[in-house]
Amino acid sequence: MEFKYPIKTRAVWWERDQVCWIDTRRLPFEEVIVCTSDPGRMAKAIIDMEVRGAPAIGVAAALAVAAYARSIEDRSLSEFVEHVNKAIDMLWRTRPTAHNLFWALKRIRNKLDKAKRTASSSAEAAKALVDEALKIMREDIEANIRLGEYGARLIEDGDVILIHCNAGALATAAFGTVGGILRVAWYQGKRIKVITTETRPVLQGARLNTWEYTREGIPVTLITDNAAAYIIRKGLVNKVLVGADRITREGYVVNKIGTYGIALAAKRHNIPFYVAAPTSTIDLESSIDDVVIEERDPEEVRRVLGKYLITMPDIPVINYAFDVTDPDLVTAIITEKGIVYPPYQENLRKIIGS
Ligand code: MRU
Repeated sequence: MEFKYPIKTRAVWWERDQVCWIDTRRLPFEEVIVCTSDPGRMAKAIIDMEVRGAPAIGVAAALAVAAYARSIEDRSLSEFVEHVNKAIDMLWRTRPTAHNLFWALKRIRNKLDKAKRTASSSAEAAKALVDEALKIMREDIEANIRLGEYGARLIEDGDVILIHCNAGALATAAFGTVGGILRVAWYQGKRIKVITTETRPVLQGARLNTWEYTREGIPVTLITDNAAAYIIRKGLVNKVLVGADRITREGYVVNKIGTYGIALAAKRHNIPFYVAAPTSTIDLESSIDDVVIEERDPEEVRRVLGKYLITMPDIPVINYAFDVTDPDLVTAIITEKGIVYPPYQENLRKIIGS
């Protein structure tokens, strides 16, 4: 696949009728690639966050269903449809917050329903699913490139940008949403600097942002999560740029836990708070009251990197993976169709319809 910009880092891709991904749990210590056509293996990879980030989860789930479909294309059409539907149901239940997962699986399910009515063999149905999954993957990369070009218009030479969690190439099929904007700005010759939070407890900032942006040559500095508000207060950053797992019809931004606090600090100190997300993350059907915020295993908080116990072994823990940022704290939402400004309720609808 050819793209307008170099694709140096991929999170998930298609290879020899299998879905492959880089196990982000092991970065930056080891670069481990895993491939499968077993949807159960992919479900585990998504739950355990080997594959993570809303767009990457959606693409990975779609490719996993396609790979599985290919592996059972010698079965009768009715058996094929039954098994593929079960695989979709299993992947549907892996993580509840990222909209892209449901958006991608709905597209695959629609193709399956159509193939059930029109395909003359399971092989023909499997081909339709593979084509759709590859289209979802390609569209994700293209959306990130377009989004990156829109977003780069907001970035100036010399900017120091605070980011939280990884919304880079490692959170999408490739190129990234926040990562796309940083890359395009960097390729345009803007001398930007990035400050990333650690992003406890899974450490997507400390482990993934540092690895991904250093590979790209973009200067990146690490802070603890607790330092974000003080860094903003001191004027050490002049913009905030984050991704999203879901944007509701009212313009609420659901993103990595800690985003809300950063948005409040940005507002207090008058610096722009930008959200980068493809339209596949915008859910016009959901209002903020419908969104399920994932709560993860307490062990993620009790232990660092799943190993070192840092507290009393059975201490109670609250471990929300995401939080909610109110629309009035968001300066703009950058999508592949353009930059959306308030009022979001009205303007998100317009951009999705355009
Ligand atoms: O729990 P994660 O690592 O899947 O959370 C990821 C985020 O919160 C990202 O900011 C979001 O998915 C956008 S990725 C382009």
